[in-house]
Amino acid sequence: MDEQDAHLAAQYEAYPYPRRDPRDEARRLIVGSPGHLREIDHWVFGAARSRRVPLTALIAGGGTGDATIMLATQMARAGRPGRVTWLDRSKAALKIARDRAAARGLDNVDFVEASLLDLPRLGVGPFDYVDCCGVLHHLPDPAAGLAALTSVLAPGGGIGLMVYAPHGRTGVYMLQDALRLLAPIEEPPGARIEVARKVMRLLPESAWLRRNSYFGDHIDGGDAGLYDLLLNPRDRAFDIPALFHLVEGAGLRITCLLEPTRYDPATWLPDPKLRAKAASLAPMQRAALAEALSGLMSTHVVYCARAGAVPAPPDPIRPDAVPVGRELPGEELAKRILPDRTLPMMFEGVRVPVPLPAMAGPLLRLVDGIRTVGEIEAALKLDAAAFARTWRSTYDALVGLNQLLLAAPA
Ligand SMILES: C[S@@+](CC[C@H](N)C(=O)[O-])C[C@H]1O[C@@H](n2cnc3c(N)ncnc32)[C@H](O)[C@@H]1O
Repeated sequence: MDEQDAHLAAQYEAYPYPRRDPRDEARRLIVGSPGHLREIDHWVFGAARSRRVPLTALIAGGGTGDATIMLATQMARAGRPGRVTWLDRSKAALKIARDRAAARGLDNVDFVEASLLDLPRLGVGPFDYVDCCGVLHHLPDPAAGLAALTSVLAPGGGIGLMVYAPHGRTGVYMLQDALRLLAPIEEPPGARIEVARKVMRLLPESAWLRRNSYFGDHIDGGDAGLYDLLLNPRDRAFDIPALFHLVEGAGLRITCLLEPTRYDPATWLPDPKLRAKAASLAPMQRAALAEALSGLMSTHVVYCARAGAVPAPPDPIRPDAVPVGRELPGEELAKRILPDRTLPMMFEGVRVPVPLPAMAGPLLRLVDGIRTVGEIEAALKLDAAAFARTWRSTYDALVGLNQLLLAAPA
């Protein structure tokens, strides 16, 4: 642990992150990526791992418990066997995460108070799924952190990561530089917060953070959010080439960037010739191009597998495949299709209309997480070729948005 890391540890004791009140569990479940059960079934296991096989998951740097509570609740609700292990070195975060699990009566969660860097020596695992959201970019050596996570990954398992991305965070690092001078790290956290609040109140119009509308954390995340964003002792952003380098250095391969449509340069390039040029690039270059063109990504969420054991992608053509809405049921997705046959998607406030085939609405109304593709085809009464075309383009468009996924088989 270097000096900055000691300050980081102190930060998450003073301001466990994110700010959460266990009493709120009674009224809502916070869902997100990575670590959503349906995403794990689809993106990590290619919708090929039976839901009866117990799932062991590690949430490393679990903080106040968002991913832990989400995944453990989704598993409990769906009657899925397995356990979720929360791990973090913050005692204050442990208390909140534990109280949230207790508030929900979850009995499928284990808690480990430790550094994730010690994972190879802790005697926990192996885990089918390892989740690390918003942590690697705070570590003294992110590559050592990812190596530690990979050391407890079970064969055939997958990792979900979130790291900061540079362009969408424009303005953040300038303010961090300013606050390092006005509120040095050696000062008490409460005093630093006060300075940061004052600076934010009086921020010149020219400050890029003021012009950047992709952030809310310093406005509505309380002291924990403000400290995490602007006073963090160490945080670095990974652009796409840096992220690929990090992941590949750990012997892993990125199997999915969320949402895939966001990382497709065609989303940001209306010109057909330029689209064709972009399509000829390697996958990493395509994603880097989308990142540089759109300028909106403030985080990257990826799922990864061991480079030598990348699972086959989910197969939507199988008649026994069961499509399911990630959060919105098919019926609800159908309602959102506009008369011009597009689904309006918002990426950080940027509206992207996604075209769908004519029969997408009736098809989506049949997607209930129970019917198989074969049953949907029979109910839709289209000829085989027309169904195949409609299903494939609806599936591709909505999987690209991470809205439609294939369920784990029985
Ligand atoms: C920004 S918070 C993210 C919390 C949670 N994953 C989320 O996304 O809501 C970072 C967390 O990483 C934890 N952390 C930082 N370094 C760590 C380490 N070496 N081992 C374990 N946890 C660590 C902190 O204690 C903190 O709870």
